[in-house]
Amino acid sequence: MATRWFVTGGAGFIGANFVRGLLARRRDSHVTVYDALTYAGHEISLDGCTRTGRFALVRGDVCDADALDAALRDASPDVIVHMAAESHVDRSIHGPAPFLRTNVDGTFRVLEAVRARPGLRVAVVSTDEVYGSLGPTGRFVEGMPLAPSSPYSASKAAADLLTLAYVHTYGLDAVITRCSNNYGPYQMPEKLIPLMILSALRDQPLPVYGDGMNVRDWIFVDDHCAGIELAAERGRAGREYNFGGECEKPNLEVVETILRKLDKPRSLIRFVTDRPGHDRRYAMDIARATEELGFRPSVDFETGMERTLRWYQDNLDWCAAVEDERHRTHMRANYERRLEAGAEPSADRAAPEETR
Ligand code: NAD
Ligand code: DAU
Repeated sequence: MATRWFVTGGAGFIGANFVRGLLARRRDSHVTVYDALTYAGHEISLDGCTRTGRFALVRGDVCDADALDAALRDASPDVIVHMAAESHVDRSIHGPAPFLRTNVDGTFRVLEAVRARPGLRVAVVSTDEVYGSLGPTGRFVEGMPLAPSSPYSASKAAADLLTLAYVHTYGLDAVITRCSNNYGPYQMPEKLIPLMILSALRDQPLPVYGDGMNVRDWIFVDDHCAGIELAAERGRAGREYNFGGECEKPNLEVVETILRKLDKPRSLIRFVTDRPGHDRRYAMDIARATEELGFRPSVDFETGMERTLRWYQDNLDWCAAVEDERHRTHMRANYERRLEAGAEPSADRAAPEETR
């Protein structure tokens, strides 16, 4: 079992949940977070970790090979969990360059660092979006051809392929995890669920792209973190593992659930211009992770949403801290024109449609 963990991107949404969970459950664990602290990485998300005496935060860029090497020398980990990334599809549409830099070149640097350290294991955290979009039926299975649609997912697919090439060519001890949409505490309010929660709490419009019938497979973040831990310790080198919540929902249903739970009116919904190239449906087949790793999602959507809603209501200070000028600039660029042209929901638009 691994005791010394090195988590790139550990100050982000999934990272913070992963690190907190590991430190709390495994008293023999030591965690080093290596994170550039971009707009998405926040030291406050790791508040309290230092008190364990088993935690270190190193501010560093995964593209900086020397800094990465120095941090790895100091940390001397058993395993790297590589989750540093530019993660937001909308931002990748506005400006792909940082996505290629961090997600492709950054992963290359991490793989090189692992190659220089025989015996070191790496779990590369990837996404279901590398598979592209599904029609109304079927699920993503490992081994399917990759067909990414956005600059974000293309950069993640490139990182996956590079990882597999390093296993094949250099015998690297690497596994890849691919997960569906996460939700839970510490997620930046640029993503659907926290954005809708905060907008509803503030009685501001809730911008739903297109017809609101795009389907995502929602997983509570703790379940994804459990899957990453299993794959990092038990996964077979060169293998990809799908994780998902077995919880498909159209976006509109998610948004309506939030409004209902917060006792806010449906009239806050605005149907706005669709995301270009918007993938219609994602759904994960998790049979491999279940059979080989013993993975099962354990938090149902109702419970996960209750926990998430409560967390955002109790942590408005955290929200204020992360909604800084970098965040506001993105929000203006992405929504100002959309909301000017947006429409309130009518009874017709609320009717569920067949997905393609
Ligand atoms: P996030 O945007 O919340 O966090 C990303 C973290 O990476 C931040 O702390 C940021 O500071 C750091 N980072 C960015 N560029 C860096 C660089 N050049 N060097 C070092 N650190 C850098 O993302 P997240 O939602 O926590 O996602 C984490 C990982 O999981 C990503 O690889 C993402 O592709 C993957 N993933 C996310 C989801 C999801 O639903 N959020 C689902 C499947 C997979
Ligand atoms: O599927 C895994 C992926 O999930 C991860 O790889 C990504 O890092 C993560 O950001 C997430 O990507 P999505 O694009 O699916 O997440 P997002 O929260 O941005 O959008 C979820 C759905 O909601 C999507 O169909 C677009 C829609 N949406 C999103 C926003 C921000 C809206 O309708 N309105 C919005 O304002």
